[in-house]
Amino acid sequence: MALRWPRRTRKRIHMFRSKLPDVGTTIFTVMSRRARELGALNLGQGFPDYPIDSRLTELVTEAMAQGFNQYAPMEGVLELRQQIARKLSASYELTVNSETEITVTLGATEAIYDTIQAVIGPGEEAIAFDPAYDSYEPAVRLAGGRCIRLPLIPPGFRYDWDAVKAAINPRTRLVLFNSPHNPACTAASVEDLNALADVIRGHDIYVMSDEVYEHVTYDGRAHASVLKHPELAEKAFVVFSFGKTMHATGIRVGYCIAPPELTRELRKVHQFNTFSIAHAPQVAIARYLAEKPDAWRALPAFFQAKRDRVRTALAKSGFTLPPAQGTYFQLLDFSAFAPPDDVAFAERLLTEAGVATIPLSPFYAAPPALPVLRLCIAKQDSTLDAAVQRLNEFAARL
Ligand SMILES: Cc1ncc(COP(=O)(O)O)c(C=O)c1O
Repeated sequence: MALRWPRRTRKRIHMFRSKLPDVGTTIFTVMSRRARELGALNLGQGFPDYPIDSRLTELVTEAMAQGFNQYAPMEGVLELRQQIARKLSASYELTVNSETEITVTLGATEAIYDTIQAVIGPGEEAIAFDPAYDSYEPAVRLAGGRCIRLPLIPPGFRYDWDAVKAAINPRTRLVLFNSPHNPACTAASVEDLNALADVIRGHDIYVMSDEVYEHVTYDGRAHASVLKHPELAEKAFVVFSFGKTMHATGIRVGYCIAPPELTRELRKVHQFNTFSIAHAPQVAIARYLAEKPDAWRALPAFFQAKRDRVRTALAKSGFTLPPAQGTYFQLLDFSAFAPPDDVAFAERLLTEAGVATIPLSPFYAAPPALPVLRLCIAKQDSTLDAAVQRLNEFAARL
């Protein structure tokens, strides 16, 4: 039976003053839902459609059966934090203190949110680079702050460091950095990190570095982590995701690396946000990392093969494929076929070609005219092959 609210309450609910009035359901959710409804192939939302390592499934099941079903420690299971420290030593030759510098969070999303709440206060500002991952600005606004959105410059989505310098003022507290970059598919260079360090030097400004695609870099490129930049690392909250590195976006385990003073502040938010995250997956991931400490080393080749498969199959389609240096994605430039209205073209691909993609304009505060869509390549080869066949056939009809 439907719940009936008294008339006065109904009116009050109706008048609710939203803190995020312009935020609706994200484009990712909308596209996935419509792809399901229309039976389209989903190259939209960034999640793999192939199974995870069955050993990880066994370890999660085993951990639950062994009783790891009550609250985990607030900062994360120690065994997992120790494995994370080991992994950081293996991948970046870094020594990170598992007691004071690592916090396990509910995916990278929680680490990003906690960082922003820990740093930004009412009236303060964070700088983000457009196109920007969609969770950044709402988190800044919920903290009472303002997100200053600076566009990356075409071609190649380059940083305009003079614009960053000009945007900095006494209210600026945080730079929201992301590399490898979703959705630009670029990877920051050491020069970019040096430039970032230059512009914030001498200011009370911190960095949230979203590095969830740390292991999805192509063509032999080493990921330039902010953690490897001693000056930036002192001021940075660096965010990672086991969802991405274990092909298991639903496992919702991420972590944040920050110096002890910043970690203390991050944990104050984490403690009253999620308190701690699911216990069994943490135990399972720790055991998986102990058993297979090198599994992540296979990721660049695994994803590069998928990127190349898509690029090769679309080479003669008439679409242009901008360079992709990293991430789960490949951009698709449709300027040869239609005016630069990415939302309209994504709709056509969905309804006429049966392929769901993601337009780039939702990643912008003020979107320019964009002839570009984002394809997710983290899909099984058969899905990629079927989708590119549909894209080729559609292009031939245009
Ligand atoms: C750039 C970026 N940051 C953060 C996230 C969120 O990561 P998680 O699923 O671990 O919360 C994503 C997920 O797609 C992402 O692409």
